[in-house]
Parts: sequence; structure tokens; C-alpha cells
Amino acid sequence: MKTTIEPFRIKTVEPIRMTTRSEREALIEKANNNLFSLNSQDVLIDFLTDSGTSAMSAAQWAGILSGDESYAGSPSFHRFEAAVKKLMPFKHIIPTHQGRAAEKILFSIIGGPGKKIPNNTHFDTTRANIETTGAEAVDLVIDEGLDPASEFPFKGNLCPKKLTNFIEENMGSIPIVMVTITNNSGGGQPVSLGNLKEIRSICDRFKLPLFIDACRFAENAYFIQQREAGQEDRSIVDIVKDIFALADGMTMSAKKDALVNIGGWLAMNDDAMAMDARNVLILTEGFPTYGGLAGRDLEAIAIGLEEIVDQDYLHYRITSTAYLGDALSEMGVPIMKPVGGHAVYIDARALLPHIPHQQYPGQALALALYKIGGIRGCEIGTVMFGRQPDGSEVMAKMDLVRLAIPRRVYTQSHIDYVIECFEELMKEKDSITGVRITWEPPALRHFTAHFDSICSS
Ligand code: F0G
Repeated sequence: MKTTIEPFRIKTVEPIRMTTRSEREALIEKANNNLFSLNSQDVLIDFLTDSGTSAMSAAQWAGILSGDESYAGSPSFHRFEAAVKKLMPFKHIIPTHQGRAAEKILFSIIGGPGKKIPNNTHFDTTRANIETTGAEAVDLVIDEGLDPASEFPFKGNLCPKKLTNFIEENMGSIPIVMVTITNNSGGGQPVSLGNLKEIRSICDRFKLPLFIDACRFAENAYFIQQREAGQEDRSIVDIVKDIFALADGMTMSAKKDALVNIGGWLAMNDDAMAMDARNVLILTEGFPTYGGLAGRDLEAIAIGLEEIVDQDYLHYRITSTAYLGDALSEMGVPIMKPVGGHAVYIDARALLPHIPHQQYPGQALALALYKIGGIRGCEIGTVMFGRQPDGSEVMAKMDLVRLAIPRRVYTQSHIDYVIECFEELMKEKDSITGVRITWEPPALRHFTAHFDSICSS
């Protein structure tokens, strides 16, 4: 069959409030041309993030009701712990309120001035949590991962050669090696099992622990099954177990591949490190059997972890992301290739070559998509990364717009609508104008900056 149907029926619905183009033009103007400032009910298709935006299943909602809210020793914690250990058999599983809380705890223990932590590509919060301790976050993805046009199947791989050189040059200052699966900041690209094995052997050679930032582990496992020689007949669960058997610990945002709206965890085998982590946890998150979560959240995670490794779900998930990416690509929209797991990334600089980087082509594209179709994407480019700590402005490596697809939320007709909006955008693209910033805060400006269109003369 050509059509991959959504492998679920819809039992509860959330209405989308329809708006016209002229209404949206007024709404975005009122929001100072910043998509983060819009009310979400003024958005038709919300592709801002795939994080915490999943639709939970009937089984998860039932689990919510049976959550046990005891302060200590809740059976919901034991169900959560067992569900995690079934896939990721680490000795210590420490719940947190989301991924960055796990990062904060980990790096407050192993970070500090003079320390250096390599990764394929650190996600923003990981980098920030490392840097606030005075340590350095270093990205060592393979060269193919930096080339938007490369069709290499595992563009998320950590480069073994760069890692070996880096370790040899920085012996004694590296507390752990990290790998992010899938590589979100590099376009949602997967890491192969072969690469993880090679990284493990380098870690063994230099006696370094390996930690996985595992937010999208199930999507990564599906890519391994589909793309890596010798893996095609293996189950997702077996591949997932192999991935985590190679590691000494992990950080996790359950808001992605545990199909919940809030939650995360930190896991590890080392007893001394776990004791330190639990001490910080009690200060900042909560008692070790609930972290920053309610018992009901732990139940929902336990059930989400069973649902996420389902072959039919993952087939639908990856196929529907590729369906959008392939349709855009066929119409001539330049996108990062191959299409990643959770998002389609549009190369705004290539699509709108008449807009110089100083006029933020990514922001201009994101605004046009909202006006044309009520679609909310996210600029990942010079608005997000261009401003330096000394106040100067540089051009980001790329000016992208990310369309991140929430899990189990939109149907194929929503995606077909998005494709139609792009057809309209392609007709209008030469008249899209750049933007300027009229106000910005000292840091993290993309969340709150004000923008103005630069009218063509
Ligand atoms: N690591 C990766 C690879 C992520 O993508 C994220 C979040 C985190 C860590 C932090 O997790 O949000 O639960 O604290 N990514 C979201 C996104 C925000 O939109 O890509 P968190």
C-alpha cells in the first residue's frame, strides 16, 4: 500500500480555531513578529517543537488516574523504574522534571572549570548546563553531518578520529564522552550502532565513561533497523537494548520518546556518582522516588515507553516526517537531507537568496509560513545564534526553519495542508522581505525579541 495510515484512532479531540490570512497578519504584527509571542490558539499547525506536545494514549490517561502520590516509595516509581530498566538496564534510575534537570544534576557533579565534554552535537540546554559550570562543550560530529546536502545515512555519528585526537590532546580533563541520539541540533540525524560500538571501544581504551543523551532513542533505533546492514531483521527493543548496553549512563527528556507532556531522568551504573546525583536531586527536584514529577507522570512515562518501541508506530512516525520532507523537496524547497526523525529543516538562506543574513532569512520565512497558513515553525539561525556575548553580531552557520512534528497529533490531511501552503509560498517567495530587530534582551533573544519587516523599495 502507498498510504501509511496513522496506527491509532482518535478518541479525544482538541478543536483548531480557524483564522484568515488577514487575521493572522494582524495577530503576528501584535506579537511583534515573534512567533513565540503568539497565543497557541491563533496557530493552525504548531510545529514549534516535538517536545512535550505528544498526544497521550487512552492507556496513558488511565495510568494517570492510577498514579500513587505518596511522597516516598510510590508504586508508580517502581513501575517507572522497571519500564526504564527493561530498555535501558542501568543500575540507578533518577527521575527529573525534564531533560535539562538531568543535565543540570549531571554537570554540577562532573563539570567545572578546565573540564571538557565532547559530543556529536550538544543540544543548547546541554551546552548551557556544561558552560555554566565553567566547563567546555565540544562538538565532534562527522564532516557529513555538517553538510546539509549530504545523503549519508548516519549523519549524527560522532567522528572516531576527531574524538581520539581530542582525548589525546586533553587527557585528564574529560569526565565523560556523550552521544546525542538522534542528533537534534544536527538536523535530527541518527547515529549508527556501528559508530556507538566504535566510540565505546575508544572510551574503553582511554577508560572514559560513555553517556547517551537519549531523547529520541526509539526514532534512532528505527533508523538503525532500516538503514544499517545486518540490523534489518532485528526488533526495535533488541536494538534499543544494544544501544544502552554500550553506555555507562544517560540523560533523558521523556517529553520526546516517552510520549508524555513532562518528565525526564538521569541514569548511570556508577554507585558513587549516583549518590552525588541523588543528593543534588533532593535539593533541586525532590525525593529520589519522584524527582520533580507527580506519581501520575511516572505512570504515563512507564506506559509511553512500551508504546514508543512499537514497530507500526515508528514506521508511521518516520514515514510521515519523510512524507512532508519529500513533498517539499520535490517542489524545490531546499531542505536538510536525508529527512531526520522528528522534524524537517528548511534552508531559508537557499530558499530566499535575495534576503541577506543581516535581515534574518529564517525569521522572514517563519513569518511568511504563519501568515500564509497559520503554521508555526522555529527559526534556527542568525536570530538564535548570531549575537555574541560581547554584543557583536555574526552570521550563524546556517539559517534554518525547523518544522518539528508533535507525536500522534496531526493526521495526513494536516500535512497535506502544510504542503499546499508551501506551494503558495513558492509562488510568493520573491516578494518576501527581510526583517530587522527593533528590540532585544541581552541573552536568548529569539524568545522575546521584537521584529519589523523591511519593506522593499
Ligand atoms: N537534549 C536534546 C537532544 C533535546 O532535543 C532537548 C530538548 C533536551 C536535551 C532538553 O530536554 O526540554 O526536556 O529539558 N529539546 C526541545 C526541542 C526543547 O524543541 O528540541 P528538556
